Amino acid sequence: MEMALTGKVAVVTGASRGIGAEIARELARGGCAVALAARSGDELRARAAEIVGAGGKALAHVADLREPGAPAALVEAAVAAFGGVDIVVANAGATKRGDFFALSDADWQDGFALKFFAHVRLARAAWPLLKARKGSLVTMGGTSGRKPHASFTIGSSVNAACAAFSKALADLGKEDGVRVNCIHPSLVETERQWRRIRAEVERSGEPEATIRERLCRETGITRFGTVDDVADLIAFMVSARASWLHGATIDLDGGEIPVL
Ligand SMILES: NC(=O)c1ccc[n+]([C@@H]2O[C@H](COP(=O)([O-])OP(=O)(O)OC[C@H]3O[C@@H](n4cnc5c(N)ncnc54)[C@H](OP(=O)(O)O)[C@@H]3O)[C@@H](O)[C@H]2O)c1
Repeated sequence: MEMALTGKVAVVTGASRGIGAEIARELARGGCAVALAARSGDELRARAAEIVGAGGKALAHVADLREPGAPAALVEAAVAAFGGVDIVVANAGATKRGDFFALSDADWQDGFALKFFAHVRLARAAWPLLKARKGSLVTMGGTSGRKPHASFTIGSSVNAACAAFSKALADLGKEDGVRVNCIHPSLVETERQWRRIRAEVERSGEPEATIRERLCRETGITRFGTVDDVADLIAFMVSARASWLHGATIDLDGGEIPVL
């Protein structure tokens, strides 16, 4: 399907690995110039170099997006390199799991600093540019925002907040011509899930296949998602093909969410 992404400028956070790296690759394959952001300079530069090596345009912007000024600096860097911004994918996120009573205020602040406030600051900084080009913004949530659980209190709260923020911003987007949507993926094959599986293998002594099977069964899915599953949907969501998709929160979840 032709997505008409050629010549667009995209900003993707959390693009050094996992879901964000594949979103950056997919948008670049579609013809976008991509500004990638994360903290790990070597990994990030390697991702950008892969895109450039494949004939695309990419900028590696190394930053800790929890810092209040970092999202605006990222937007400035994208404009300096590529002349504007059409697409923002606020993907970076990391929230600590575990017993609610073992989580500190610092853990909560850390989770919200990256996955909520960085999204808010990025949207605020990019908005005039998105408005000028009738662009599109996607925030990354997670199914725990719709199906919260006790072992993931921070992540569940942050993901629900991301969806609410997107919905609120979509209202403004109707006036300004900026499409805003959110996506809630279920479990996706990335380093964060592999860490979780390895920890469970060590704790239980059970084989990895058993842990994976149990995680899928408990989650209500038949397989983990792939980074391509997510990147393909995002490429559609930010493209002109999705011009009537606005204010939506899409569960990309292999059937996890069992309710309407
Ligand atoms: N994987 C899943 O099962 C799943 C399910 C639902 C939702 N999600 C959401 O999808 C998003 C991506 O998840 P993922 O699994 O791809 O995660 P990941 O593999 O852990 O990658 C996270 C990305 O965010 C970057 N990042 C982390 N802290 C940062 C900071 N302070 N400043 C800037 N960048 C930072 C990381 O790079 P550096 O460490 O180099 O900074 C990395 O590029 C997250 O928002 C996550 O909550 C994931």
